[in-house]
Amino acid sequence: MKTGVLASGGGTNLQSLIDQWRKGALAPAELAVVGANVAGAQALERAAQAGIPTFVLSHKAFATREDFDRALAGELRGRGIELVVLAGFMRVLSPAFLDAFPNRVVNIHPALLPSFPGVHAQKQAFDYGVKVSGCTVHFVDAGTDTGPIIAQTAVPVLDGDDEESLRLRILAEEHRLLPAVVRAVAAGRVTIEGRRVRVAGGAL
Ligand code: GAR
Repeated sequence: MKTGVLASGGGTNLQSLIDQWRKGALAPAELAVVGANVAGAQALERAAQAGIPTFVLSHKAFATREDFDRALAGELRGRGIELVVLAGFMRVLSPAFLDAFPNRVVNIHPALLPSFPGVHAQKQAFDYGVKVSGCTVHFVDAGTDTGPIIAQTAVPVLDGDDEESLRLRILAEEHRLLPAVVRAVAAGRVTIEGRRVRVAGGAL
């Protein structure tokens, strides 16, 4: 399944996908393109080093969110992309994008949704004082981090933590969970019934 990854920043989640793909462990997903909305995103460099085609589409070049979203969908569709992975892509996507990929856009979020959606999720969780946080991979709908949940991993928040140590503990789990979900979705093991998502073959 031709898979496109969208990123805005450092791309460590992209790197974990690349590492699994190179080992043959992402199949039947195939990393076909990496797109960014920020020209200098390090994710682009990681993709180039792995020999994956890249493109940059700056949202600033478009008058409206919908114009950007339509152009982004066109860019991916034009390359035959069937599955879209948001790996640190810091833009909310509207139906102008999502309608081109029904139930085929997944996002990784660094908190246990529905707690702490939006930006700076790790800081939100840390500041709230929760004892458990984690990461969530979900299908993307038109809300902010509101789509059906595919898989979650919990991590403890320890007494000695600061925001950064918590961020890193969550990130390590993101790197494991996202490739596992991409593999399962591409293999057709993931089905949606209303808000409930089933993964055949056991939990991720
Ligand atoms: C990750 O922690 C990801 O979960 C988060 O951005 C980081 C990107 O890191 N995404 C969001 O907060 C989306 N709302 P990376 O560029 O190193 O993969």
